[in-house]
Amino acid sequence: MVDLAPQRFELDPIEIAPIEVIRELQLHRLKWSLRHAYENVAHYRQAFDAKGVKPDDLHSLDDLRHFPFTAKADLRANYPFGMFAVPQAQLARIHASSGTTGKPTVVGYTKRDLATWAQVVGRCIRASGGRPGMKLHNAYGYGLFTGGLGYHDGATDFGLTVVPVSGGMTERQVQLITEFEPDLITVTPSYLLAILDEFRRQGRDPTKTSLKVAILGAEPWTDAMRAEIEAAFGMHAVDTYGLSEVIGPGVANECIETKDGATIWEDHFYPEVIDPASGDPVGEGELGELVFTSLTKEAMPVVRYRTRDLTRLMPGTARTMRRMQRVTGRSDDMMIVRGVNVFPTQVEEQIFKVKGLAPHYQIVLTRNGRMDEMEVLVEATREAADEAARNVSAAELGHHIKGLIGVTARINVGAPGAVPRSEGKAKRVIDKRG
Ligand code: DLL
Repeated sequence: MVDLAPQRFELDPIEIAPIEVIRELQLHRLKWSLRHAYENVAHYRQAFDAKGVKPDDLHSLDDLRHFPFTAKADLRANYPFGMFAVPQAQLARIHASSGTTGKPTVVGYTKRDLATWAQVVGRCIRASGGRPGMKLHNAYGYGLFTGGLGYHDGATDFGLTVVPVSGGMTERQVQLITEFEPDLITVTPSYLLAILDEFRRQGRDPTKTSLKVAILGAEPWTDAMRAEIEAAFGMHAVDTYGLSEVIGPGVANECIETKDGATIWEDHFYPEVIDPASGDPVGEGELGELVFTSLTKEAMPVVRYRTRDLTRLMPGTARTMRRMQRVTGRSDDMMIVRGVNVFPTQVEEQIFKVKGLAPHYQIVLTRNGRMDEMEVLVEATREAADEAARNVSAAELGHHIKGLIGVTARINVGAPGAVPRSEGKAKRVIDKRG
């Protein structure tokens, strides 16, 4: 793999500014953002008043803990436009996330917000090893989802040539990668695996593509999957993190020179990690729920937005700004199977250990009487697809899951292609427990 680490002089100076300078900037911006939210969004005015705090009560970054949280339910309650802090005429774009139930979550951007967004996504691309002049195959979905257009604008602004492919039509993805010769690909890790399968189905060698880096995110994935993807394509795979409510993609990104967790662009998004049960900030470096306060957003400021993503904050390495550990899962994705907490990514790690299994999976939860049952649907690789080999793989996976996660799972090893493929975010868990 080629060395694509950016030089220090290529970075935005704030990325490597002394930490005190970053903290000063954050405090300055946080004061503005809290006032902006309080003065222009009825929800924030009520929530601050209910807690007896005013924007002026913030004297240090630490004081943020006294301000109220914002949850997805607050966005739903103010559907569609109640969380906006600017008149509708000043909105340049609206996105929405479909969500699993009920109303979508709506987010809005002013022209300046779009410029900020493009800048932070550009930073992600540079951190991933991108350089102006490179070509990007953008396979994040276009439309209301923030992935496609977010990466599109950021890449254009950064100086890339963008191929706006969106998700789906997997045969054509392979054709375009082969014929247009992109340097970079932006895509969900699960969909990249579907593209990889299609390369092999067509008898094309994935290590022969022009791709140098995959910028993967929008769903949880593991270092085991990184190793698989890097080996299969002979390219780098880096993690990119974001969420619509905070801006979309562009909140945090791994640096290609370290690949040790995503650097949070802290000059725009102030992170905290809290104990999800008590709401208290956890100690430095402890695991908890990630919470963000926007520092510069105009159209839809968010104050202490609870992401439901579980992670820990770590000091900077390749940049001064803090890193977040790879998100192991959302608190919503956590399955409680007979009293044991299980994340889909834990199952994923075990699947990668079994040689005869392809990296596609789904977990089906059912209830038999009062007992939870977990079934893991996986599929055999082409080389290990006969019944005897499948039985061996099933036994091996069952053993790992029992031994390392602590639950007994029924393992169903299907033929190659048996697990439904995603074209965007993979649906890992099907809960039929009602
Ligand atoms: O998924 C934004 C995005 C697009 C990020 C493209 C990266 C690339 P939402 O649809 O609002 O926004 O979903 C946000 O997806 O709270 C996490 O649970 C999950 N997520 C996003 N990136 C990662 C990641 C976009 N790198 C939700 N690792 C977040 C794990 C991720 N989970």
